[in-house]
Parts: sequence; C-alpha cells; structure tokens
Amino acid sequence: MDDRFERYVTELFAAEDPILAKIRARHTAEKLPPINISPEEGKLLHLLLLTIQAQRVLEIGSLGGYSGVWLARALAPTGKLTTIEKDARHARVAREAFAAAGLERRVELIEGSALDILPTLQGGFDAVFIDADKEPLPQYFDWGMRLLRRGGLLLCDNAFFHGAAVDPNDRSGPAVGVRAFNELAAHDPRLVATIIPVRDGLVIGLKTRDNA
Ligand code: DHB
Ligand code: MG
Repeated sequence: MDDRFERYVTELFAAEDPILAKIRARHTAEKLPPINISPEEGKLLHLLLLTIQAQRVLEIGSLGGYSGVWLARALAPTGKLTTIEKDARHARVAREAFAAAGLERRVELIEGSALDILPTLQGGFDAVFIDADKEPLPQYFDWGMRLLRRGGLLLCDNAFFHGAAVDPNDRSGPAVGVRAFNELAAHDPRLVATIIPVRDGLVIGLKTRDNA
C-alpha cells in the first residue's frame, strides 16, 4: 500500500493507545526483529475477531506480544488467546506485554516449537493467526484447519513475503513455504479465502465446511 494511505488509515482508524505504543517501544529497545504487524493490520485482525465474537483464538508466533494484544483485546473477559513462541527471549518480552496490557488472564503463552505443541491442543478454535517461520507453513495450514471450528477464521501474515509470492524463481525455503500456503488456502474446498493487501499481505479464510 502507498505509504500515505497507510499513514492515513493508521492515524484515523488504528491509532495506538499508550499501552500499545509502549509495547512497540519495548520491542525496539529489546532489539527484537522489526517484523511485528502494523497498527492497521492489528486493527483489522481485532475487527475480524469481533465480527465472529471469537472466544478461543490461537496464534502461532507471539514475537513480542504486539499482535497478541490486538487479538486478545477483541475477546470477552472469559475468552482465551493461546499463543505459541519458540524463542525464550521473545516469549519473555511477550509476557511483559500481556501483563502491561492487563491481559495475563486472557492469554496463555506456550513456549516451544509449534510443531511439537500443536498436536497437544484441543480443537474448536474460532480463529487461528499464523505469523511464524515460513518453511513449515504447509504444516501450519494443516494444523490450523484441523484445529478450527466450522465458521472459524484462518489468518496468515506475510502472504506476499516481500514479493517472493509472485517470484517463482525464488526457490528459498521461506518463499516456497509462503507460495505453498497460499495455494492450499486458495484451493482447499473447506475454505473461502483471499489475500488482503495490508502491509505484507494477510491471508483471510473462512472455514465453511467441516474436515473430511
Ligand atoms: C518477516 C516478516 C514477518 O512479518 C514475519 O512474520 C516473518 C519474517 C521478514 O520480513 O523476514
Ligand atoms: Mg509476519
């Protein structure tokens, strides 16, 4: 998106409160990779969860907790965000973010590798947001679909992956993973999906049919 439009949307619709601004500042101070979602992407995720009145949400890849706060704030006080993070330092910063936002009781952070943790989770999630390493994206797709309820949302960051999605000559592991995920999302008969061109692209899919 043109930077001017991005700024316009952010300032008008996705202005951060002091808590989100502080979480982002911590993220920078702790030198976490600068790959967190943007405010307007956070607002979109938040709005999508509100539209389905989500109660149980799964996030793969917590990073510093910035996206998790946008997600968890859309949940009722009885709702629960389960977020998975394999990097211990990221997990520590994310826990601090959830505490700073007063969301400790609405968020469960599980530390470890997603492919180890996903098989231990109970299905029936209202939404799954994938924002983690890109090589295993086809496996995250399968787990997301398995763990989602019918009527639930499959969401995945970095659908364009800086242009790698439209560059078939890019045979790097992450690029191949992103393209494979997009193709699965486009063709799976259980899913009605598209890409919203916010920041680096957000796949959004509604699971309209049960698993076979
Ligand atoms: C990158 C960006 C992301 O948003 C992410 O989730 C992973 C990697 C990147 O720019 O490399
Ligand atoms: Mg991302």
